[in-house]
Amino acid sequence: MKTYNLEKYRPDLHFAPKKNWMNDPNGMVYYKGEYHLFFQHNPNDSVWGPMHWGHAVSKDMIDWQELPIALYPDELGTIFSGSAVVDWHNTSGFFPDEPGIVAIFTHHLDKDDGTPAVQTQSLAYSHDKGRTWTKYEGNPVLGHPTKVDFRDPKVFWHAETAKWVMTLATGQTVTFYSSPNLIDWQFESEFGDNIGSHDGVWECPDLFELAVDNSEEKKWVLLVSIGDDPQFDTGSRTQYFVGSFDGSTFTADNKEIQWLDFGKDNYAGVSFSDIPTEDGRRIYMGWMSNWRYANQVPTEGWRSQMTLPRTLALRHVGDQLLVVQNPVEELDSYFTKVVEFDDVLINSEETKTFAVDKSSVEIVLEIDNHDAKQFGVVLSHTASQKTELVIEAETNRVTLDRKDSGQIEFSENFSNHQEFNLQATNKVELRIIVDSSSIEVFFNEGAYAVTSLIYPDKVCEEITLFSLGGAIQVKNSYISASHS
Ligand code: FRU
Repeated sequence: MKTYNLEKYRPDLHFAPKKNWMNDPNGMVYYKGEYHLFFQHNPNDSVWGPMHWGHAVSKDMIDWQELPIALYPDELGTIFSGSAVVDWHNTSGFFPDEPGIVAIFTHHLDKDDGTPAVQTQSLAYSHDKGRTWTKYEGNPVLGHPTKVDFRDPKVFWHAETAKWVMTLATGQTVTFYSSPNLIDWQFESEFGDNIGSHDGVWECPDLFELAVDNSEEKKWVLLVSIGDDPQFDTGSRTQYFVGSFDGSTFTADNKEIQWLDFGKDNYAGVSFSDIPTEDGRRIYMGWMSNWRYANQVPTEGWRSQMTLPRTLALRHVGDQLLVVQNPVEELDSYFTKVVEFDDVLINSEETKTFAVDKSSVEIVLEIDNHDAKQFGVVLSHTASQKTELVIEAETNRVTLDRKDSGQIEFSENFSNHQEFNLQATNKVELRIIVDSSSIEVFFNEGAYAVTSLIYPDKVCEEITLFSLGGAIQVKNSYISASHS
């Protein structure tokens, strides 16, 4: 029997399955003091295969306990992505005694006879905080006569119209359905023709409201993940639209394409349901991988991990209204400051290096660029392995380069630069979180994110700040390490 090194590259602060394959986060819901994470799971192999819903619970979204598989395939198909809600008022009739959780997921039936697979939406419910599940006897509850791609239901209670709304991925559009009871669904509208990116099939949508600039004003945000298409070298990624929703129709405010993340490894992310009103956060997690190479990444006996949980907000940045994201504050208690520095001037061609050798690190920097042409951070994992973050002042271009970061040869595409443009680079704020096999960078209080896998032999030995062609000044900055 083959033996695996199950611990190599295993994350310290991110959820990963103990064994075998994982993709999308599913059914994320908060109920009775626990955050639930279900996930696309093949329990028999470390590559994608017949999908089940794996399950984990946590009190803080960082420290997860994996539980037995929640949903197994049945005669209606394997269990594709979907969501979960608390049916507080027993609209479904499943909870005569006390509220419980309903999972709304896609059944994927592949008869392996050359005919297209059939995707339908089904329900399961739990009376014991998600530990055991009963599939609804009337499954499936929603199908389509012709659409082949008809999946990933994300359901929420729309208070203004007092009904459940389902956002469903339907080819290269999103379709909205509504229901009084989670069982009987009615078509409302379809969104997506002639707007947004159509570089691949649309998957895993999510629709929710966010406050604008922390004010009373609110807008609706529609997240749409776009599958890998071999014609483009980006692989899979996630776009979003900002607009309005009246319970039936979503209208986008503008036409330009907006990406949720400029790294390669944040896909199929959606938000938690039923976060208490007193808390008020909209919390998101994505699958930290890319369909282009997800089945090849060099872990043994397990594959894939989730992004850190992130709080989403809407903020004006220059003339744009952006979905901004920051790791949840629960993460803070996992880190202790190991170095603090303020008002450090780094002249042209100079560097400042910090030796930090820990299982995960956080680097927080406030950089004033006086007159440098280029500046940034080099993360030395070992003497020969590094990941570089470079900012070019003239073009405002930011590049994350992982070509020397460790194992990269499993995919041609893995070493391509991850790039985007900031609006200005005279002042740049950075928060970088490095774990055993990932780096997540948040710019300017979360206005832009770059999420990227890396496979170095060690997390970090040294952190070097550099400046070329002029000076930078680094203020109010620190490096933290996790104490796990
Ligand atoms: C997205 C996705 C979903 C589907 C699931 C199957 O990554 O393709 O559309 O439900 O994965 O595992």
